[in-house]
Amino acid sequence: MADLMEAITALAKRRGIAFQSGEIYGGLRSSWDYGPLGVELRRNIRESWWRSTVQLRDDVVGVEAAIVTSPKVFAASGHLDTFHDPLVECTNCHQRWREDHLEPNADGVVLCPNCGGAEFTEPKQFNLMLRTFLGPVEDEDSVAYLRPETAQGMFVNFSTIQTVARRKLPFGIAQIGKSFRNEITPGNFIFRTREFEQMEMEYFVEPGTDEEWHEYWIDRRLQWYLDLGVAKEHLRLRPHEPDELAHYAKAATDIEYEFPFGWNELEGIANRTDYDLRAHQEASGEDLTYFDQEKEERYLPYVVEPAVGVDRALLTFLLDAYREEEAPTAKGGTDRRTVLALHRSLAPVKVAVLPLSRNERLVPEAKAVHEQVMSEWMTQYDDAGAIGRRYRRQDEVGTPFCATVDFNTLEDRQVTVRERDTMQQDRIPIANLVTYLRERL
Ligand code: GAP
Repeated sequence: MADLMEAITALAKRRGIAFQSGEIYGGLRSSWDYGPLGVELRRNIRESWWRSTVQLRDDVVGVEAAIVTSPKVFAASGHLDTFHDPLVECTNCHQRWREDHLEPNADGVVLCPNCGGAEFTEPKQFNLMLRTFLGPVEDEDSVAYLRPETAQGMFVNFSTIQTVARRKLPFGIAQIGKSFRNEITPGNFIFRTREFEQMEMEYFVEPGTDEEWHEYWIDRRLQWYLDLGVAKEHLRLRPHEPDELAHYAKAATDIEYEFPFGWNELEGIANRTDYDLRAHQEASGEDLTYFDQEKEERYLPYVVEPAVGVDRALLTFLLDAYREEEAPTAKGGTDRRTVLALHRSLAPVKVAVLPLSRNERLVPEAKAVHEQVMSEWMTQYDDAGAIGRRYRRQDEVGTPFCATVDFNTLEDRQVTVRERDTMQQDRIPIANLVTYLRERL
């Protein structure tokens, strides 16, 4: 679909999944707010990641570190000196670009995407960290940074967490939280923004076993997307070339997704070696080594890190689930419908309860059915408009099941349950409805 990005952005806005931040003031470039359905989708993405990365394992624990961080942390981690992108300016229109994002045309010439100019200033190294000041005085002593990755919160807390969680190597520390980067060229909706949320895990291992664990986490993370229904042919692994590795990494592999604007990084899985622990040990003077009881020796663990953005994952799930198709109508014709074929665990609303009409006998009956299901899942009650249109509204946001209360319900105490993808309808006794849905959700 040529305009899939446009279709997704429009759907996200129309249905309150995500929209421009501060829209009544014309919006803030590259900032997006998430509405009711977007909030649910994000919660489900985080929940699924946390379940597979922390809950179902006994070797990973969680942390929530502060966002506003001491400059000492980023001086030690190398972010102050090396977390740069090359910035160039078009000498004609003065638009600024990330040099490594500009592509040569068929003649091998790089042209300004804004005005077509062919001359740029020499690249300047532009630090991506967002700076702020703590307290009333804005001077160098009060500078602090909004973290550009959640990872440093795991490194500086490594010894504390290892001790309190009483874990032996290999073990991991996971975190979900906001990160900030002053990106030169944000864009493509929520793909690249200046404020975003990351799901990261630092897996601490014995040096020498790091390459094996790196492979292990690449496999596990790829499988997560497949398990959540992302099409295999839209995913690929791309190991980094030595010259594109981040300053801390010995090796890295991206899980790439085929976005409508081309193959791009969805998630990165890096082998960070002992780079960060060593840097923090040297800068802080604290001993961050691990005592290996079996080997009776101390060493700095190596680290394998899977890291993905909640927002980028959300965009991926939306793009991959989006379908436009012909569907039969109640009157025997066909109609076009938009469906988000989201994995059931990700769907923002699991069940919609719909009375056939606003009839005074059907409404209380449908509300009673809704009461039953709302304590189990995120649900919606909707009695506004034609039933066919209400089905389409639910299809469009990926609701897996609609339960309809009609006049027969009043007699036989059954509802019609319609499944989103097949549109197949089953008559289910109200008394069995929760069990029926539980088996399928
Ligand atoms: N701790 C490692 C790290 O931060 P990264 O490859 O720079 O590595 C990890 O970021 C993931 O975070 C990316 O794969 C992407 O999903 C997400 N991410 C990074 N920058 C982003 C941005 N500006 N907007 C949205 N998501 C971003």
